[in-house]
Amino acid sequence: MTPSVDSGSLAAAVARLKAGGVVAFPTETVYGLGAEISRAAAIRRVFEIKGRPTDHPLIVHVADASRLARWAREVPEPARRLAQHFWPGPLTLILPRSRHVPDSVTGGQDTVGLRVPSHPVALALLAALGPGGALVAPSANRFGRLSPTTAAHVHDELGNAVDQVLDGGACRIGLESTIVGFSEDTAVVLRPGGVPVTALEQALDGRVAIAENPHRMTRVPGTLATHYAPATPLECLPAASLRRRVVELARQGLRVAVLTWSDQGIDLAGEKNILRQPMPDDAAAYGSRLYATLHRLDREGFDCLLAEIPPADPAWLAVADRLQRASWTPHGTGETPSFQADEEHAHDIP
Ligand code: TXA
Ligand code: MG
Repeated sequence: MTPSVDSGSLAAAVARLKAGGVVAFPTETVYGLGAEISRAAAIRRVFEIKGRPTDHPLIVHVADASRLARWAREVPEPARRLAQHFWPGPLTLILPRSRHVPDSVTGGQDTVGLRVPSHPVALALLAALGPGGALVAPSANRFGRLSPTTAAHVHDELGNAVDQVLDGGACRIGLESTIVGFSEDTAVVLRPGGVPVTALEQALDGRVAIAENPHRMTRVPGTLATHYAPATPLECLPAASLRRRVVELARQGLRVAVLTWSDQGIDLAGEKNILRQPMPDDAAAYGSRLYATLHRLDREGFDCLLAEIPPADPAWLAVADRLQRASWTPHGTGETPSFQADEEHAHDIP
């Protein structure tokens, strides 16, 4: 998708950021809600606009890997290698912070998340902020909701709360960056994302660890406080259980959309009120469309979304993680857990 930002809008955004404004901007992963790192009031506004707890750290976006020295006190060898390999790109490195990083950005932690995005609009902003400049930016959605992958998603959710929304087209990756921390010198994936784990392993000539998911939610019916969740309830089931569940919901008179990537035993012909939403059977292609699809189905007013559980393959880790976090069931929808792995999957959903 060609970025559609003109030089006037870009210059206005740079001026706003330098003056302490909050600007939503495109990256290759999702749209970010940006503030210049030295503008404390702008950073406070980012937390307010998102409705995000202030101890929840923000990623610092920088223009290139040479900026690591300013924001990180130490850069372990594997981090250096990953930066070389994947920046600009969908990778965030968690490193010991330098004294230049304000407390407000890290939630008081001793580490900072750093990333060089690969979108031309994001890079143009970062270049214009100069050598000491950086953009702190969480995803441009309210806390706990789906990340935006188009400028329209940002407008719909944040409206006039931000000073400007730069429209750089639809995000190419469509899922957030992979977050990697370091324990001794071992790379640890803290959030699966745009860079597949297998690519990290290749770059490091070895295995990387995958953290036990610290945000893991207990899927209790009635729990609304999920992360990356659509407004519509979503259940994720193995192909073999989908049809039965569709029929059960349809009998209650509910309108249901079903996201499938395979054709296994999911013949929905003849079911009224059911939309079959075919998704790609390639992980990257599925990931690039997931949020946009969920945003659209939310707008279309379905009562419930069902998703076929993704393949048990490391390439699908990020998609599986986001589907799990998007899953929630309201009271009264029955006993089915909202994320049901089959046996094959049980081990690899962190
Ligand atoms: O792709 C992305 O990473 C997007 C784009 C805009 O760059 N950003 C993004 O930001 O997803 P956000 O704030 O929605 O998610 C950042 C995650 C949070 O879960 C946060 O806890 C974690 O990164 N994080 C940031 N700094 C950290 C740190 N120092 N230690 C551990 N986790 C950190
Ligand atoms: Mg986010």
